[in-house]
Amino acid sequence: MPTFEHEGRWLHYLDEGDGPPVLLLHAFPLSSEMYRPQLEALGARYRFIVPDLRGFGQSDVDPHPVGMPDFADDALALLDHLGIDQAVVGGVSMGGYVALALLRTEPSRVAGLILSDTQFNADDDAGKRKREDVAQALEKDGIRVLEDSMPEKLLAQPPQPQVQARVRSLIREAKPQGAASASRGMGLRTDSRDILGRFAGPLLVIVGEGDVITPPQKAKAMADLVKGSVLETIPGAGHLPNLEQPSAFNAVLERFLAPLRP
Ligand code: MLT
Repeated sequence: MPTFEHEGRWLHYLDEGDGPPVLLLHAFPLSSEMYRPQLEALGARYRFIVPDLRGFGQSDVDPHPVGMPDFADDALALLDHLGIDQAVVGGVSMGGYVALALLRTEPSRVAGLILSDTQFNADDDAGKRKREDVAQALEKDGIRVLEDSMPEKLLAQPPQPQVQARVRSLIREAKPQGAASASRGMGLRTDSRDILGRFAGPLLVIVGEGDVITPPQKAKAMADLVKGSVLETIPGAGHLPNLEQPSAFNAVLERFLAPLRP
């Protein structure tokens, strides 16, 4: 897996496939590996750049709260490192928060936006307190805090056993301090309605029909802000449709990406 150094930290990433660049940002507390089904199916037509966000996968951990603009800054540095001016930028859940932060920082780098199972809202006060509780529990008891509780919320019920096992193993590989820093960072994020409202598109919004974390009405609220946006609902999926229903997800992704090919 290639690496590059940014602000004294080593960050790992996948750079696979051939074609227009597509930067994919992963969900919490997973890693670049969550996008394997997309890389395998569409890598012949698109170049997928998929970082392990700071503190996840094989990337170095930052013990301080890592805000969405920090992750976005790392992703932009990765594009610089690869000499890529513009890319389609996509993210699932926390990856969507990072994509929106990147759009705020450098809108000219975004050739198109894909927001899957995410939201423009900031956390309310109770949500912010929960982020800190999760961070402290991770620091005290390790990743099993999430491994035991999260798959049930992430996946449509009843979960497909193979998908459940894959998600559990991705969570188990996460580093507790990396996840704690991101949890605190998610609690700091600001509302992104303004930046999405200024975005001229193209925008693809995807949501699993059974997503209980960021349900379909949140997806519709995002799509409503951008003229000409496409909203796609994936049946039989919860919060991680790219892993739960990869064929349906990939078809939607390909329909959106194909017209952006030169
Ligand atoms: C994620 O899947 O990235 C998280 O559920 C996002 C969140 O907790 O807000």
